[in-house]
Amino acid sequence: MSAEVEEKIRDALEQVLVPGVMRSVVQMNLLRSVEVKDGKAKIVLASTAIPSETQDWLKDKVATRVRELPGVKEATVDFVEAKPKELSQIQNIVAVMSGKGGVGKSLVAGLLASAFAQEDKAVGILDADITGPSIPKMFGLNTHPSGSETGILPILTRSGIEVMSMNLLLPSEDETVIWRGPLMSKAITQFWEDVLWGKLDYLIIDLPPGTGDAPLTVMQVVPLSGVITVFTPQDLTAMVVRKAVKMARKMNVRVLGVVENMSYLVLPETGKKMELFGKSKGEEMAKASEAPLLGRLPIDPEIAKLCDEGKIEKYRSDALSEIFANTKQALNTDKF
Ligand SMILES: Nc1ncnc2c1ncn2[C@@H]1O[C@H](COP(=O)(O)OP(=O)(O)O)[C@@H](O)[C@H]1O
Ligand SMILES: [Mg+2]
Repeated sequence: MSAEVEEKIRDALEQVLVPGVMRSVVQMNLLRSVEVKDGKAKIVLASTAIPSETQDWLKDKVATRVRELPGVKEATVDFVEAKPKELSQIQNIVAVMSGKGGVGKSLVAGLLASAFAQEDKAVGILDADITGPSIPKMFGLNTHPSGSETGILPILTRSGIEVMSMNLLLPSEDETVIWRGPLMSKAITQFWEDVLWGKLDYLIIDLPPGTGDAPLTVMQVVPLSGVITVFTPQDLTAMVVRKAVKMARKMNVRVLGVVENMSYLVLPETGKKMELFGKSKGEEMAKASEAPLLGRLPIDPEIAKLCDEGKIEKYRSDALSEIFANTKQALNTDKF
């Protein structure tokens, strides 16, 4: 009987949103325990990242909601402290890498996250490109995250993707960060440890280009499910991709696959594919990585337009669907 009421309480709290982020106390994993005895409900919430001025409000909201339920006569709500990292429950973590900048790494990270969100999965993006963050712009985000001394709350995109990026923390979008390695590593570690990600099915990490301090930090600190490497047919040698793959292997991180971006152009008149930058290097790169080619993205003016307008979540294409399906498949095969 009590177990049944406890279940009802959990269900009801799926509807109580955490102030500052449009996800519930259950989704943010703030609900620590529910106990019902003789109609008396005892709820324990973590106060993590909740500003003190909103804690009372949240307490009231939860107590009121619980008191309305049949089988509950009384409800008390208490707060406990917990570290954000202890509350993060993430099923799959995928980092997106590239040998050099401008190949569409952030784009692939953003599109994959959007595709997961489209399937009603709980998704987050950790923008680990501290000095060149581009995720907020692609999603049209410019609000500052809220939080408390105990943690930071991510910002939500239109389709409900949690985002944390250096760009959201800077006073203005045009500000630049010139940081050396150790500080950058510290910022990335904080994005992982001090952001309240809560319960997520997928976290996508957008890495800066290359194989420097930032990717190294991510591979050391974050329990990755795997990495995806992005390249373009313009990349002169497979060497840069190999370097990234070598780094992942050394760090015991699985390479899920490679994506070729700007692979071809579809001619509007004929629908023919034109390989503008030369023949596809997809198979060659896949071989060099000993990982599958997840797919090829065309140069698509629609992509550039949506990125500029901050509406990347709207993009749909067969090429993206294929990359998405292959990524899911790679994540579901235990091969290491
Ligand atoms: N396939 C594509 N078609 C059209 N424009 C693209 C494509 N890939 C990338 N772009 C454009 O290039 C820009 C840079 O891509 P981005 O993902 O930020 O590169 P990276 O993260 O590797 O530095 C994007 O904002 C987008 O406007
Ligand atoms: Mg980028």
